[in-house]
Amino acid sequence: MSAAIIDGKAFAEGLRGRVADLVPDFVATAGRQPGLTVVLVGEDPASSVYVRSKGKATEAAGMKSDTIILPADTSEDDLLNLVRKLNADATVDGILVQLPLPRQINENAVIATIDPNKDVDGFHPVNAGRLATGLHGFVPCTPLGCLMLLKDRLGDLSGKDAVVIGRSNIVGKPMAQLLLGESCTVTIAHSKTKDLPAVVRRADIVIAAVGRPEMIKADWIKPGAAVIDVGINRIDAGERKTKLVGDVAFDEVSQVAGAITPVPGGVGPMTIAVLLRNTLVAAHRNEGVPLAKDAI
Ligand code: GUN
Repeated sequence: MSAAIIDGKAFAEGLRGRVADLVPDFVATAGRQPGLTVVLVGEDPASSVYVRSKGKATEAAGMKSDTIILPADTSEDDLLNLVRKLNADATVDGILVQLPLPRQINENAVIATIDPNKDVDGFHPVNAGRLATGLHGFVPCTPLGCLMLLKDRLGDLSGKDAVVIGRSNIVGKPMAQLLLGESCTVTIAHSKTKDLPAVVRRADIVIAAVGRPEMIKADWIKPGAAVIDVGINRIDAGERKTKLVGDVAFDEVSQVAGAITPVPGGVGPMTIAVLLRNTLVAAHRNEGVPLAKDAI
């Protein structure tokens, strides 16, 4: 059997289009564009690429994009003061501080200083708590993107066995909360899990978010399962070339799974699309402008 390929790139383009279509109505009502400010500390090349593509995508959706680049030796106090200034700026709907941050800055202190209602990353403890208790808040972009792809493919997820491999605050834990919210039976597996292949073999839905290239093999997968690969790993491809692979051994797993996301072109493009969606939602909430619950 050969799995259906879940085309995250196409889904993300559709979502970005739906967000862009809703922006003019917001502008007409609020008299301003939704605004996203991205803060980058230092010049890490990978982070710089991400930040540039976030800025471009924000503008392409008709929103106001600001990128603030600070030197790598910025102090924690200076960054916290900038975040407080952005919290107080009514034209800023979403604040995203690109992670990782340089060593001298405590990431948790920065995340906790962002106004939870501008926390379009969904990383603030208040938003983590809202997600865990079923309240409206911001949900981290990558897991929300995974859930959208799953629901689009499978419809109702209720009663399905889901195994999330990885327990990070950014992907694994919020992913598990989202699946629980859809009435899945959820297992969070991690580096200390005993007999991981046997645990994964029980799953109707597998979310791989471990950061280990091609770790999940075909004989770990229940035939017909949906496999969502969050991993983005650059590996040596010989002849001085590199290539991107996920956490799932795609070629073999796609022979067993019912549906699978490729890398690249699966989950990756969803992250920025959901960021735009979260920014639009933030703008509506901050201005008190209604947005139909199922609009995006
Ligand atoms: N670094 C890598 N991905 C992300 C993300 O989604 N948000 C932030 N703030 N930093 C990141």
